Amino acid sequence: MNIIIINGPNLNLLGKREPEIYGNETFEDFFFLLKKKYSSLNLSYFQSNIEGEIISKIQETGFNYDGIILNAAAYTHTSIGIADAVKAVTTPVVEVHISNTFSRESYRHVSYISPNAKGVIIGFGLNSYELAIKSFL
Ligand code: DQA
Repeated sequence: MNIIIINGPNLNLLGKREPEIYGNETFEDFFFLLKKKYSSLNLSYFQSNIEGEIISKIQETGFNYDGIILNAAAYTHTSIGIADAVKAVTTPVVEVHISNTFSRESYRHVSYISPNAKGVIIGFGLNSYELAIKSFL
């Protein structure tokens, strides 16, 4: 089973960025353990701070992978381009967020991705990604 995690802008700073919201763990450390735990899956990871690169990765994996786990970060709330890419592909996309976006600023309450996601997992810290993996099993 081919599953890719796609992370958007500033998620490369996990571990350093607002630890009271996003925790102290780097995504690389978390992903290493996740890959070990789900070693029977072909789990890959891509991060970009650039909207077009995220769109290209969704297009590249969106017709041949079994699942995309997408945390588009701030682009969630702004990007019609990423929303269109999610709508265009056939691979199911599960939207995830580390923090509970609904308990934060009102501009984080809107997601352009959710209407075309298979499901949405919000607010369980990095565990949100593992719950998304489980949703594909
Ligand atoms: C986030 C929530 C977004 O509002 C924010 O811009 C992020 C991270 C989350 O995982 O909690 O960068 O997607």
